[in-house]
Amino acid sequence: SKSEPIKVMISGAPASGKGTQCEMIVQKVKLTEVCIGEAEYQQLFGLVHISTGDLLRAEVSAGTEIGNKAKEYMNAGRLVPDEVVTAMVTARLSQQDAKEKGWLLDGYPRSFAQAQSLEKLNIRPDIYIVLDVPDEILIDRCVGRRLDPVTGKIYHIKNFPPQTDEIKARLIIRPDDTEQKAMYTSGRNAASLHRRTKQVDSQSGHEGDKEVIQIMWSVVKCMVSIVSHLVVSLHSNAQIDGNRPKEVIFKDVDSLLSQVKKEKVKTTKPV
Ligand code: AP5
Repeated sequence: SKSEPIKVMISGAPASGKGTQCEMIVQKVKLTEVCIGEAEYQQLFGLVHISTGDLLRAEVSAGTEIGNKAKEYMNAGRLVPDEVVTAMVTARLSQQDAKEKGWLLDGYPRSFAQAQSLEKLNIRPDIYIVLDVPDEILIDRCVGRRLDPVTGKIYHIKNFPPQTDEIKARLIIRPDDTEQKAMYTSGRNAASLHRRTKQVDSQSGHEGDKEVIQIMWSVVKCMVSIVSHLVVSLHSNAQIDGNRPKEVIFKDVDSLLSQVKKEKVKTTKPV
């Protein structure tokens, strides 16, 4: 008999590799789908990948009401208002496929209010994975990332260039992929930038860019509260070193998910 589906949340700074790992988790299923048997089934995850970034980008390109609201926030590398994202995510999570197969939630929750919304609806993951990557690497990944608009596949100009010239020619830069965005949305970067600006201020007597610092600080506070909230409320969470080759990271992710799946089988088997 099939076990209960697993529920996974994956989190990390922009360009920490969430999308790349999710693609590998989903791909694992696609690669082995053809020769599926009961024994193999237990090793696969079959999760529905729900990426808030992908959902929002789809709304933007379809020119929907949500898309029009979200566009300016996204292009500035800022968070889209909670109510817009929450409505979209909860609608997606309640669809049949996610209920049946389990889900892989990528990019949500990103604020305390979003974490609270999930709590209210009693939506809890079996595992919460955080990809940890140093700031200077994040910036390089943001700046070098390219997207294939046809397949949705993520490349990197240095780390993962496409195999063919045809793909290479159609790659696009995501409009929000700028060095500034990486600085904005990376918590620790904001903190160190804040410190540096303060030092400059006290030395030269110049006023720093208050607005920029305020935005950055709200991001830092948000990240801290999300993480602390989730860490105390979740059954299981794992911090993974995201500054390694993607296949090596995937080995860790894969064994974590297999473990969770095994646990679920145990708890759902009749005694
Ligand atoms: P979203 O699409 O979620 O953007 P993000 O958080 O910036 O995350 P990314 O997709 O940029 O990065 P990733 O971690 O998936 O990294 P990737 O695998 O691509 O959101 C976009 C926007 O939507 C947000 O800015 C916000 O405005 C809005 N939004 C989304 N969710 C929201 C929410 N909950 N609330 C409010 N607003 C929301 O990898 C990056 C690059 O690095 C690639 O080029 C890749 O090839 C390379 N790479 C990956 N892994 C490795 C590795 N191990 N080694 C070397 N290179 C690697």
